Amino acid sequence: MKPFIPFHLPDIGEEEIHAVVETLRSGWLTTGIKTKQFEKEFAEWVGASHAIALNSCTAALHLALETVGVTDGDEVIVPTMTFAATAEVVHYCRALPILVDCKSDTFNIDVEAIEQAISPKTKAIIPVHFAGQPCEMDRILDLAQSRNIKVIEDAAHALPAKYRGKMVGTLGDITCFSFYATKTMTTGEGGMATTENAEWAERMRILSLHGISRDAVNRYTPEGSWYYEICYPGYKYNLTDMASALGIPQLRKCHDFGKIRNRYAMLYNEAFKDIPEIIVPYMNEDIEHAWHLYVIKLDLKRLRIGRDEMIDLLKQQGIGTSVHFIPLHLHPYYRRNCRYANENFPVANQVFKCIISLPIYPKMTDADVQRVIEVVTRLIQENRR
Ligand SMILES: Cc1ncc(COP(=O)(O)O)c(C=O)c1O
Repeated sequence: MKPFIPFHLPDIGEEEIHAVVETLRSGWLTTGIKTKQFEKEFAEWVGASHAIALNSCTAALHLALETVGVTDGDEVIVPTMTFAATAEVVHYCRALPILVDCKSDTFNIDVEAIEQAISPKTKAIIPVHFAGQPCEMDRILDLAQSRNIKVIEDAAHALPAKYRGKMVGTLGDITCFSFYATKTMTTGEGGMATTENAEWAERMRILSLHGISRDAVNRYTPEGSWYYEICYPGYKYNLTDMASALGIPQLRKCHDFGKIRNRYAMLYNEAFKDIPEIIVPYMNEDIEHAWHLYVIKLDLKRLRIGRDEMIDLLKQQGIGTSVHFIPLHLHPYYRRNCRYANENFPVANQVFKCIISLPIYPKMTDADVQRVIEVVTRLIQENRR
């Protein structure tokens, strides 16, 4: 039996190991100069004015909503085709997530569905750049700006990605990135918020450390002072210097990582394009895709097996896969508490039954990609109707 190809493996080199060890030896473990350097490099890299390092994308989304003023009884429009975090942060602000359907080609949020969901209570929209493909940002920003609605992008999958020549991270009001272990670059756990608004950046930074006016560098270094003030009831969302030390070399490799994922996506596209049972990912024009995920759709009418059986067979053949996502409205919490009508999500309901995310990451070899192609192709041939 050939070795198992996991769904994801991080690519951690000697530079990262050395940087973390150096930080461990430095005597400064929590948020300090490494985190400042990481923020500066990240802001320059995406071309944003401000970047705030946080301990997750979830924390970034929460602080972004709170910073733009989402509060009790407000509504925030969220795609149903996303991870738990995108909607749970709306609850943190005591507001209501209004779930909307996705497009059948890109699986990104459906702009017409956003338009229908807007009400006088709508304070914000959270587009999720599904799999690393930017949403239709011009249309979303037009809709939002004409109604004074804020756009907080969930870019957990979209590093690096471009929309009409502009980097994701420079488009909406605040953009939130994830450095979770499976993402396109990692700090183990971690996140970053970017914005052009200096006041919001300062507020997010203060909220991330208990709402206090002085961070650790400004309290515990020889130049610092013990005195601090609590400006807001804040949170404990700061990123450690150990994580930032890992993030800096990962960020410097991020373009090269992206090139490899792009090449693997093209190999998959080419191999599957003439297999009628497989619908390869659709790409809009004028975008650059981060290819965090490579999601195929099965044409189940042409197969004797369902999606779940296909996943089991792939596993038996040594290929790890995943499903992105179980739409939020199908989960028990949202079914019980929010009573979203199932008929509001015809596309997500249909898409969910057919999708499989295949492995795509720089740590894979070309031979691994060829093996995934060969196994998927063979299983499809064996299970044709
Ligand atoms: C679309 C999306 N948003 C947000 C998150 C949350 O990211 P984090 O784990 O950094 O909080 C994830 C994580 O998988 C995600 O897929």
